[in-house]
Amino acid sequence: MIFALKKHQTNVMIIAIDGPAASGKGTLARNIARALGLHYLDTGKLYRAVARDLLQAGKTPDDVEAGVAAAMSLDPDSLSDPALNSSLIGQAASIVSAIPKVRDALLRFQRDFAHKKPGAVLDGRDIGTVVCPEAHVKLFITADLEARARRRHTELLARGEALTLDKTRADLAERDERDKSRSIAPMRPAEDAYLLDTTDLDIETAFQTANDVIRRATGG
Ligand code: DC
Repeated sequence: MIFALKKHQTNVMIIAIDGPAASGKGTLARNIARALGLHYLDTGKLYRAVARDLLQAGKTPDDVEAGVAAAMSLDPDSLSDPALNSSLIGQAASIVSAIPKVRDALLRFQRDFAHKKPGAVLDGRDIGTVVCPEAHVKLFITADLEARARRRHTELLARGEALTLDKTRADLAERDERDKSRSIAPMRPAEDAYLLDTTDLDIETAFQTANDVIRRATGG
């Protein structure tokens, strides 16, 4: 695919996809990356991996010193660990991600990844606002809490986690609140982000809508 880039833009295509947990942003980001032939990074995995390393070392996720050490020694090859998908690690990741020095330690990796040719799709909470404010296209994906809770609950059951729907909903709400209200890089749409609500959209319709936005934005 040929991208028509504006003059001030870099010669790689960067697409930022932010939003709360279980909004559908991960599936969307992966599908867009595949369709456009771009690299893909789920940045939540970085915070989840730091949380995993902390918990494995017997530390708590609010331990600043241990969190920074874990972030600085993070092994990117360990990001495909299926254990990262658990709800326990998700909550711990939300706590560890509120530590400014942990975020700093992970910033360079994300920016370097974004600038790999021919470009990348990154999903997270602060990609459009902090990690890649220069992104060519920014999407902020939402869905109402009930829809997200049902999706996440189905995923967790499939993983063999016996969580109730009520507990799943409460965990998501708690994580949303923490991710939105932290002092550094809070989850919020960039001013120039396109908002996409997937509450009533299936995966294919969400993909087509996002793809149209990207085509319009890039002149592709
Ligand atoms: O997207 P996820 O559920 O895997 O993310 C886990 C936690 O990591 C999330 O609750 C907040 C944090 N996170 C973040 O602070 N910034 C990002 N860019 C991605 C995730």
